[in-house]
Parts: sequence; structure tokens; C-alpha cells
Amino acid sequence: MQATKPRDAQDLRQHLTDLTSKSKDDAYSMPSDFYTSEAFLELEKEQIFRREWVCIGHVGEVANPGDFYTTELLGEQLLVARDDEGTINVLSNVCRHRGNLVVNEDSGNRRSFVCPYHAWTYARDGALKTAPLMKKAKAFDAAKCSLPKLATEIWNNFIFVNLDGTAKPLAPQLASLDGILHNYHHELRNLLFKEDAVWGTNWKNLTENFMEGYHLFATHPKTLQPMTPTQLCRKVPGEDRWTAYRSYYDPEFPPRGPFHDDMTEDEQRNSVLFNIFPSFVVAVAANYTLFLCLRPNGVDKVSIRWGVCGLKTDPLDPEVVAYVDLCKAFNAEDKEKLETLQAAQNTRYFGGGPLAPDDLEGTIWDFLKYMEGMLGAKDTPIAAE
Ligand code: FES
Ligand SMILES: [Fe+2]
Repeated sequence: MQATKPRDAQDLRQHLTDLTSKSKDDAYSMPSDFYTSEAFLELEKEQIFRREWVCIGHVGEVANPGDFYTTELLGEQLLVARDDEGTINVLSNVCRHRGNLVVNEDSGNRRSFVCPYHAWTYARDGALKTAPLMKKAKAFDAAKCSLPKLATEIWNNFIFVNLDGTAKPLAPQLASLDGILHNYHHELRNLLFKEDAVWGTNWKNLTENFMEGYHLFATHPKTLQPMTPTQLCRKVPGEDRWTAYRSYYDPEFPPRGPFHDDMTEDEQRNSVLFNIFPSFVVAVAANYTLFLCLRPNGVDKVSIRWGVCGLKTDPLDPEVVAYVDLCKAFNAEDKEKLETLQAAQNTRYFGGGPLAPDDLEGTIWDFLKYMEGMLGAKDTPIAAE
């Protein structure tokens, strides 16, 4: 193959449209520039991550009034806090006085939030309570100085934020996925572990990797393949807003209880792996849930907030610790592969390759179709160009 010139964002949009207009039988992956282009990443940030619901954590991180954690999305500093009424708000963590960071810790519990710069003090719901020595300032109106509340939705105990406040309600868009997950009763599972990480790979590489079972036998021969072999992966018909597959357990592998009473025999023998587009990827296994909230952090880095939920309540329970250790082990295997992938993607010789059959990589095809819907070459140029 001849080397190609680097594709600009418009070339990539056109390529995405041409590629996904073909039949699923001709499913191909995208060229390497899709994962390395700065200009394309800017489009993704403006047209996708600002406009869509993006998962930023689990309600278990803010179980009680006053509990909070801080996080970041596209450079926006966010303060996730539970107020006195029990509502979880996602607030801008930028002070209404001169714009400093209000809360500079990762997490904790506070009666109020005091900006360290000039001590303006905000209630748990973001309302301004006190501002020292401001009485004589004519332009000051405390009622107009609350921390902005961003559009927030809780789905299945996961916290979603929509930065631009224009996204349609999320839950109705996930009704069919709710049906698939119903008997697993993820909502009864407690948050048992949570960690932040940064991997040296494009956010789409990790999203696609999490969602395809083809790599299990080669990348995870000792961790996942003995439990959930590649050969037993089965695609679930996806929808516009999500894609999923079931990863069936090897019949030789011991049952993975405890099971909720509602679960059918079939459900006891598989995990549902789904991606709520763009980048919230989850594995709901018979006994535990593993979730990864992904956000771009430059073209070659992804920020990850990941965790494990289960019916158990004690994070130090040896079974829980063993499951978290297993997740850490296969995450390390994925990280290694995805970081070499990112390095390899600086090539000018990779224009895309054939995807594996539907059960193994059909989820990637669904993801590319979603990306096309958001960023494909339409008749009218998109605003950010
Ligand atoms: S910037 Fe926060 S009190 Fe001044
Ligand atoms: Fe993997």
C-alpha cells in the first residue's frame, strides 16, 4: 500500500460517511488518522462531548448529604455534590467572584464549600451563602451568584452530565437497554471500588476495545479467555444510542453467583457489555458490574474513572478484592495493547482493515455508525468548521 497524506478533519468525516454507507458484511475499521487527528478531536469535543450525556461517576460516591467529589470534562471543572434534600447536583466548580477553583480536593464531605481565594461560601446545592465585605459593592447580588448547575440525569445509579444543556432526556433513549439489563438488577449493586486513571491511548481505542470480544483469546489468555471465551461472544442488536454484546461463560467455569432471583438460567451464564455512546462502557456480569467512564484527554490520552459494583456491601470482602484484582489484571493487559496501538497509529500506511464477524466486532460497526451520525460529512458543514 502507498503511504497516504495525513487526512484532515473533512477527509475523515467523508471517509466515515463512505465507510458506514456500506453493508455490515463489508465492515471496515477507520484509518489511523481517526485516532491521531487533533482537528478531528476538536470536532468530537464540540459536537459530541459538549452535546451528549456523558457519565462522570456513580451515586455511591456521594451517598450522603454533603458528600462531594470533583472531576473534569473537556477542561470544565465540575463539583458533584449531594445537597440537604438528597439531590445530586453537578455544579461548575468555578467561583462566581473572580473565577478561582472552589473545591481543590478530590472528594469528602462538607457543610458548605468555601472558595480559598476570598472565602466566598456556597451551600451544598451551590447557592451563595456569604461573601465577606461585599455589602457595599453595588454590583453584588448574592442571589445571582450561585454556582451554575449543569444538566444532570441519574440512570441506573450512574451520574450523567450534559454540558450544553440541550440533550434530550436520556432515560427514554435507553428503555430497550433497560429491558436487557432488568433481571441483573444492577440498581441493587453497591459501589465497592473506584479509581481514576489515564492511559496513553485515544478514547475511541479504549471504547472499541472494551466493546469487542475478539481480542479476549489473544490479549487475555489467562484472565478472561478461560472465563468468557471469544468463541462464545454474541452480539445484541444495538440501537442509535447504545450497542451491546453478551459474553457467555465457559460451561467448565464455576457458576458466578450470587444471582438475583429474577435472573434466567441464560442470564446467569453471561455478562452484558454495553456502550452508551459515546464513551460509557460497562460490563454487567452475573455477580458484579464493571464500569468505565471515558473522556478524551488529548488525542493520545484517555481519562478513565472506573469502578466495580456488587450485591456485597464490604469493599474488603475477599471475594470483592479478588474481583477488583482480576479487573486490574485484565485492564493492565488492555492498557499495554492500547498504548502500542496508539504508537502504531502514527503510520501513514494504515487506511483501515476488515472487522471480524458481527458477534466479535459488530459493536465497533455500531459505534462507527453513531460517530457518522454525529460527525459524518453532511450537506451542510458543521458549526465548528
Ligand atoms: S475567586 Fe473565589 S472568593 Fe474570590
Ligand atoms: Fe480487554
